Amino acid sequence: MAKILVLPGDGIGPEVTAQAEKVLRLVNDARGLGLEFETGLLGGAAIDAHGSPLDDATLQKARESRAILLGAVGLPRFDGLAMGKRPGGGLLKLRKELQLYANLRPAKVFDNALEASSLRPERVKGADIIIVRELTGGIYFGEPRGIREEDGRRFGLNTMIYHDDEILRIQRVAIALARKRSGRLTSVDKGNATDVGRFWREVTRELYAQEATDLQTDHMYVDNAALQIIRDPLQFDVMVMGNMFGDILSDCAGNIPGSLGMLPSASLGDANALYEPCHGSAPDIAGEDKANPIAAILSAAMLLNHTLGHPELEATIHQAVQDVLNTHCTVDLRLSQCQVVTCSDMGARIADRVGELL
Ligand code: IPM
Ligand code: MG
Repeated sequence: MAKILVLPGDGIGPEVTAQAEKVLRLVNDARGLGLEFETGLLGGAAIDAHGSPLDDATLQKARESRAILLGAVGLPRFDGLAMGKRPGGGLLKLRKELQLYANLRPAKVFDNALEASSLRPERVKGADIIIVRELTGGIYFGEPRGIREEDGRRFGLNTMIYHDDEILRIQRVAIALARKRSGRLTSVDKGNATDVGRFWREVTRELYAQEATDLQTDHMYVDNAALQIIRDPLQFDVMVMGNMFGDILSDCAGNIPGSLGMLPSASLGDANALYEPCHGSAPDIAGEDKANPIAAILSAAMLLNHTLGHPELEATIHQAVQDVLNTHCTVDLRLSQCQVVTCSDMGARIADRVGELL
């Protein structure tokens, strides 16, 4: 038995997660994977229920589960709360407490959905990037931090800090991944303006020289990487970077498929794993059944690969998504050859197709 904790969260989170869970349950039944599902509260939903975005009982359940399937967190009405008390604070605490330090964010474009891309089809056809984002360190967690006042001036403060062991462990994840793919690896930093960036590059250079001589490695400043990822995404395969750069560049990479609704993610630690779409809770369309569930469904597919060791089942789900996109899409994609359907309809079609393919 492997326990899966489902944390639908806020906004469109519950809508897209329901579709991802449906697909995962179907694969579980068809293949006898022995998954057991349990649901919990995170983010605004948890604040409403018990005043905290992540309570100890949920955290304990998360620790005891093989994997967590998460929707999205955040609602505008909680924006006034202090960082740790906000919905996003619950997600950050979960990542930190479970030491989910390696966040994999693939951005690829399906051949039959090139038209949805913000980029010209000839520039994006075949694009298949994976951003490896360090997830438990950097400016998100560095101390000192806070909002304070000194000598009559108020200020906000965060600290970008990386220790050599943190850089080495995320780089080793990226190296292993690049080795399984095309062998191209780009490390991203801001070494021309920050000490932490210079240090990142120095530690990385040494590591690559010792452990990655079989790979085609490269270093790029983050501002240039933001430009290049949109200008010519085909030049990249695996990209590795710190926490905040990964947050920003993964949204940039959303231009490749043309919608954040297509970007899944896996957050991996040594003992636990969490799978969630890269998009947020999109409160403006929540409850309307029009969100794109593909990012959530592809996140469940990543679970099948990375936690359960079934890359072939991940591939089956990708195939099903591709097949359905021949005729149907959600409103964010606006493919001219497709009929626009609801979130639940999209999920049902993908699930049906997965069932046929299995
Ligand atoms: C993401 C999100 C989160 C982040 C927020 C909700 C805290 O933007 O997962 O990309 O910044 O990591
Ligand atoms: Mg983000």
